[in-house]
Parts: sequence; C-alpha cells; structure tokens
Amino acid sequence: MFDVKKFIGETEGFLKENLTGTGVVACSGGIDSSLLAVLCSLSVQEKIVAVFVDTGLVRKSDIENIKKFYSAYSINGRVVDYSEKFFQNLAGVTDPEKKRKIIGKTFIQAFEEAAKEIGATFLLQGTIAPDWIESGGGKRETIKSHHNVGGLPENMTLKVIEPLRDLYKDEVKQISTALGIDISRQPFPGPGLAVRIIGEVTREKAELLKKVTEIVEKEVETFPASLGSPWQYFPVLLPLQTTGVHGDKRSYGLTVCLRIFDSVDGMSGTFTKPDWNFLDQLSTRITNEVPQINRVLYDITNKPPATIEWE
Ligand code: XMP
Repeated sequence: MFDVKKFIGETEGFLKENLTGTGVVACSGGIDSSLLAVLCSLSVQEKIVAVFVDTGLVRKSDIENIKKFYSAYSINGRVVDYSEKFFQNLAGVTDPEKKRKIIGKTFIQAFEEAAKEIGATFLLQGTIAPDWIESGGGKRETIKSHHNVGGLPENMTLKVIEPLRDLYKDEVKQISTALGIDISRQPFPGPGLAVRIIGEVTREKAELLKKVTEIVEKEVETFPASLGSPWQYFPVLLPLQTTGVHGDKRSYGLTVCLRIFDSVDGMSGTFTKPDWNFLDQLSTRITNEVPQINRVLYDITNKPPATIEWE
C-alpha cells in the first residue's frame, strides 16, 4: 500500500531543504502540476510563483480553471500569454517528435523569461514516472518525448526540481484526494492541442479544434451513465479533406476523429464503447456547429498498440 501521509511529509521536507531560492512552479492545470503547486504552497509558499503558460494550444476552460485554482489554494500564480511565440516556432513543422521538442523548448523559454522577471532560480515540474519512462529515461525505447522531459536544454540556467518523479497516476490521485484537490477532470497533455492537430499547427486550426473540443467535453460530461466515466475524451484534427454535402452544395471539408478512452493509469487501456445514439448526437452537433468539418470518425484502437494521444 502506498503511504500517502509519508509521501506528503517527505516531500514537504524535501522542498524545504532543497528550494534554497525562489522557484517557478510550472502549472499546466493538469492534476500532476496542480498537486505539486499545492504541496509547494503547503511547505514553501513564500518562495514560489506558479506560472501557467498560455500556448494558444490550451482549451478556453483551462485558463479560467487555473485562475480559480490559484485563488482556491491561495497560490501566488500568474498566466503568461506566449502563444505568438509558440505558433511562430511551430510554423511549417509536421513531425510529431520535432513538434514536442519545439514545444518543450518554447515552454522553457517562457519559464526562463517568467523566472527572470520574478527573480527565480528554480523550476519545479510535476513530472511523474510515466513521463520519463515513455521518454526513454528507463530501459525502454523512446515512444514519445514528453514535453516536460525531452525539451530541457543543456545550458539551462534554472535548477530543475521534480518531486513527483517516482509517482504513478493512481498515486497522484490518492495524494490529491487526501489534500482535497479536484481530480475529476480528465488528463490534458502538456503540449496541448498541438499533439491533436496532425500535420502543421496553426492558430486557425487550434481555434477550430478548441470549438470541437468544447462540444465533445460538454456532451461526454452531460451524457447519461451508459458511457461510464472515460479516462479521456477529445477530438483530433486530421490533415484530411473529404467530399460532403452542405445544403444542396458539394463541400470539401475537414475531418476530426474522436478518441474516448478507458484507462486506469494512462499506461494502457481500451477505447470506450459508447451508445451509437451518443455518437450520432455528437457527430451531428459537431458538423452543425463547426461548418468547416464535414466528417467525424471514431478511434477504435486500444493502447497498446496505439497510444492515447495521436502524436
Ligand atoms: P499516451 O498518448 O502516451 O498518453 O498514451 C498517456 C497519457 O499521458 C498524457 N500525455 C501527456 N502528458 N505531457 C503530459 O503531461 C505529454 O507530453 C503527454 N503526452 C501524453 C495523455 O494525455 C494520456 O493521458
């Protein structure tokens, strides 16, 4: 059995001992970095500033939620808009690993800039075990370079602290529950919508995907029990146009693929088998409300062999 109390006590002690200057806590709004921010605020509150980077690739609700979170836990936090830089750096890039590396580097630039402004010398990240195991930190081969592991430059000026490095998702959830942190929200990857836009990432595509994401999240969250409680649910924007009909005219629109997925820890899992009527309703809403999209697919692949995110 994982000893939650012991972990909290040891981590607080570790932070007090090792955070010898001001630290920036990299907050993504996800449960890992939220837990880290709360642990920091409990032990080294005066020494930390939480920073959420608006990459232009986060959902509308992410920015609202992070502000609520800061205020609920009395965390000294800010949101910095760095979206222009992200879209600039991603222009013309289609390779998933290159995208992730660029995002990782741009994140670091954003945090370094924020740290400079704040006068911080430490960067605290909520990296957990699956992040580095899947990035080749263990014995396995690289599957994907997670942004919060793969993008760190060698000449980094900030000292990095990762107190959650040995935890798995279910342990993060146990600790978070013990601390009263809301864990009901689904995981959202650090690189955000970039790993759900196959091909080149642009602001226009990101805006489109944000709209579809909002519809998918609302529908899943309000649909009756037959869906269970999936681990994750999101659309992926494909670099694929197909023929359709809109009114009495031929259309040539974009395609999204829906991923609704059941998992316990994100390491493996199976696709959710929703009611056909639910998928019908979802597809109709998407094509009605986002006219650029004229085709909706459903991903029926488990992990393995597929990963949950498409990139
Ligand atoms: P995959 O796609 O590897 O995802 O099956 C497993 C879980 O991890 C999330 N994920 C990420 N989380 N940074 C993160 O913080 C990342 O780069 C990243 N990539 C995937 C994914 O959403 C799923 O819950």
